[in-house]
Amino acid sequence: MNDTTTEFAPAAATVEEALLTRRSVRAFLPTPVPRAEVERLLALASRSASNSNCQPWHVHVLTGESKRRLTEALWKALDADGRVAEREYPFQPAPEDWEEPFRTRRRIFGEGLYRDTLGIAAHDAEGRLGHHRRNYDFFGAPVGLILTVSRRPLAGALIDAGLFLQALMLAARHAGLDTCPQASFIDFYPVLRRQLNIPDDQLIVCGVALGYADREHCLSGYRTAREPVGEFTTFHSGELG
Ligand SMILES: Cc1cc2nc3c(=O)[nH]c(=O)nc-3n(C[C@H](O)[C@H](O)[C@H](O)COP(=O)(O)O)c2cc1C
Repeated sequence: MNDTTTEFAPAAATVEEALLTRRSVRAFLPTPVPRAEVERLLALASRSASNSNCQPWHVHVLTGESKRRLTEALWKALDADGRVAEREYPFQPAPEDWEEPFRTRRRIFGEGLYRDTLGIAAHDAEGRLGHHRRNYDFFGAPVGLILTVSRRPLAGALIDAGLFLQALMLAARHAGLDTCPQASFIDFYPVLRRQLNIPDDQLIVCGVALGYADREHCLSGYRTAREPVGEFTTFHSGELG
């Protein structure tokens, strides 16, 4: 652990600590993250398991002017209501298609974030949009990542991408950095494809904000809960008969 990281947030010393302190950060300081550090984190994430060691992931790293240009293009599309109806990312239902218990969990998450933390009422569409907009500048993080996977080798490549993403987020925590995975970029995937020259054989998985959390921001107090282990686990005992 070096002084630059401790200045902003305590780094997680163990995997357990990294798991417990990782959360989606939605307010970052402008403090830059050196390119060598980004490369180190990506190298660590690439140690993730993948089916037959396919390593189907690809990462676009955006900083400075290139990040600003992408943000401008996305905001322009957002303001022109240019959200694509047909999402290319097949695993996020449209809002009306969420089923229980996921619908309730999603509502609790949204209320916790918008109403309780940001003070934005459910009917305040403008206020909600104002926060949502910040997704597209990676919540002020100095580094924006766009994670893609090859469509070619396996339908299961998204599993590999998920492992890569989690490893990256935990490695970041160990370095005193924070992240936010962001599927919201998928709403404007044609813009991403154009701006970053992403070929059609790559599926855009999500964006990831990477940087030092702004601990003074009201959003830094927001925490999400989890279901207890018994809710999602079935233990099959070892006794026969
Ligand atoms: C694939 C994926 C996409 C997500 N997309 C967004 C997003 O677009 N914007 C956002 O603010 N949070 C996004 N999140 C963060 C989730 O809301 C967050 O992980 C969840 O509420 C649990 O909170 P935690 O990460 O703080 O533990 C995403 C998370 C994942 C895994």
